[in-house]
Amino acid sequence: MNSPAASAPPPEPPRARRSVRWLLWGALVALLLVAQSLLVGLTLSYEESRAQDRADAVAAAASGEMRRLVQRSLQSAQSLTWNDPPPTQWHYDAQEMLRQRREFLRMELRDSDLKVLNAVETPFRSPVFSTMARSDLEIEMHPACATARRVASPQFSRSYFVPQAGGLGLEVVDLCLPLDRAGHASGYMIATLALGQLLEDAANAAGANDHELSLVEADGTRLVRAGPHRGTGVFLATRLVDLPGNSLQLRADAVQGRPGLIPNLTLALVVGLSLLLFGLVVVLARDVRRRAIAETALAEALAFRRAMEDSLVTGLRARDVRGRVTYVNPAFCAMVGFDAHELVGCDPPPYWPPERIDEYRRRQSERLTLTRDLAAQREGFETQFMRRNGDRFPVMIYEAPLLDRVGHHAGWMSAVLDVSAARRMEELSRQQQERLQATARLATVGEMASLLSHELNQPLAAIASYATGSLNLVADAEQQPATAADTVSMLRQALERIAEQAERAGRVIKSVHGFVRRRERSREAIGADLLIEAVLPLVRLQARKSGTRIEVECPKPAPRVWADRTMIEQVLLNLTRNGIQAMESEATPLDRRVLTLRVMQPHARWVHMTVSDCGPGIAPEVAARLFTPFFTTREEGMGLGLSLCRTVIEQHGGALDFGPATPNGQGTEFRFTLAVPDPARHAAERPAE
Ligand SMILES: Nc1ncnc2c1ncn2[C@@H]1O[C@H](COP(=O)(O)OP(=O)(O)OP(=O)(O)O)[C@@H](O)[C@H]1O
Ligand SMILES: [Mg+2]
Repeated sequence: MNSPAASAPPPEPPRARRSVRWLLWGALVALLLVAQSLLVGLTLSYEESRAQDRADAVAAAASGEMRRLVQRSLQSAQSLTWNDPPPTQWHYDAQEMLRQRREFLRMELRDSDLKVLNAVETPFRSPVFSTMARSDLEIEMHPACATARRVASPQFSRSYFVPQAGGLGLEVVDLCLPLDRAGHASGYMIATLALGQLLEDAANAAGANDHELSLVEADGTRLVRAGPHRGTGVFLATRLVDLPGNSLQLRADAVQGRPGLIPNLTLALVVGLSLLLFGLVVVLARDVRRRAIAETALAEALAFRRAMEDSLVTGLRARDVRGRVTYVNPAFCAMVGFDAHELVGCDPPPYWPPERIDEYRRRQSERLTLTRDLAAQREGFETQFMRRNGDRFPVMIYEAPLLDRVGHHAGWMSAVLDVSAARRMEELSRQQQERLQATARLATVGEMASLLSHELNQPLAAIASYATGSLNLVADAEQQPATAADTVSMLRQALERIAEQAERAGRVIKSVHGFVRRRERSREAIGADLLIEAVLPLVRLQARKSGTRIEVECPKPAPRVWADRTMIEQVLLNLTRNGIQAMESEATPLDRRVLTLRVMQPHARWVHMTVSDCGPGIAPEVAARLFTPFFTTREEGMGLGLSLCRTVIEQHGGALDFGPATPNGQGTEFRFTLAVPDPARHAAERPAE
């Protein structure tokens, strides 16, 4: 937590951040795709090169075997001509040879003109030239024999096709060996070899089970094939098999086709791993997406919190469990005039007035030792802070415990309200109230002045006449000294009357003086009867003018009340005056003009005082505005009486209301309550008067 002033660099705009994130993800997926494709491609090409190598190896091995077999056949054929055996011997040897070597199909002994002298067929099959005459298939043999004679060594003819029964045929090659006798050409031995058999033997010897072997001509025409399976024509290897007088091409054709994606184990592994990798990337992407959403929500919540803190007018302050400030909001900074960084971590904080640091420390340590439940009651307390310029000002603080993420008590959060303006207003309103009351008192006195003068006239007139009478008596006594004793006693009486009248006049003046004198607000325990007695002279003074009778009903001994004497006397005066004024009109006959002041104690803690008259009562439209200041129905009225009464009674913790004086709705009764003195509660309120 820190102040917004000490915040991090401005965050990247969310849209830009989102597109960068998408770009990174796109790049990652693309890289993975390329890497996976390369891996699969490499695996496939490795497989292909292995298959091609195998085809090459098979072709090389088979061609080697072929060469070896041909060489062996050549040697075998030559062995039949050694030492120029007699024809019967040759016949026998040839038969034996044909039995042992299956590649030989037929042996012929011919004279130097290539006429057949002797021929032996293989015992393993029907004679090879049974479908077509041998003489018709000698065309390849002749050039071979001619070459053999010229070079004096065995020569192979070009291969040719010999049709067989049932539409089949054999590809054969003739081996022509020139025979000499005593240095002269004596004939030829022709051995016809089955190329298919040779190739079969070579394939078996080379162990080429998974390849199809073929002998092909230079133009690609296939002559024979061998092998259990057909080749697919994908992996081909060709080797040249050189024979004397002829050369053949041996081609190995792998049975295996182009490597597929699925049946290959390595490939399956690679593909499986790739899929797994992609799955992981997808899961990761989802997780990152969830995180991004949470991040956005958090950022929004933070922004909202910051906006809320900035818009608050209430100061917020957080403290850790040791009482050090850990956070303040802008409103708090504005209130005390310090920056957030000047407040965070400071002990004691600079807004504590220096003269009250000890007191505040004591209070803080008490506060910090409170249990969380007690502290959670959030009762505010008022204290004083100091602004940067040294001004002291009152604040209201509401504190609540601060819990961390796991619910541990981590400190305190306080809402701080600057109440200096409210206090100023209160003081202003108090002063205004006092001024208003003083004004009202003066107004009342002004109105009473005429009554007073009338009332004072009587004692003064009496005093004057007694004084005149006394002077006459003194004059008589001077002329007739004999009556001096009577004169003295009459003078004494006259002087006593004068003193009485003067005292009466003084009482009237004193009651008014006591009322008008502005006293400090002070409450005391006072008997309700004394309050009434204090106002009675003035009330009677006013009542006399309209012929109103005053009645007082008060239990004996009278209950005591906790009140500001002057204020309550003023309330009583206002209410009695209103009652008397209400009865002054002709609507109330003289004999019914009675004003009753009553005291009751319905509850141990409360006293009721009522002022009831027999006037015309209060109309509903008047009743609605009765307590509104300056509302009056009288020409000479100010309309302040009742409003002041209510303020005074409410200040005393009581209530003022009104209603009809009698159950049948006649007259008006104003009632108010006052508290009975409570020694425990009121002792503290009793100031030094
Ligand atoms: N006992 C009563 N009977 C009938 N009407 C009354 C009674 N007391 C008050 N009122 C009405 O309430 C009005 C307001 O009374 P209030 O005492 O506030 O002002 P006021 O008497 O007119 O003037 P002042 O400020 O001089 O007292 C009066 O004008 C009167 O109409
Ligand atoms: Mg009045």
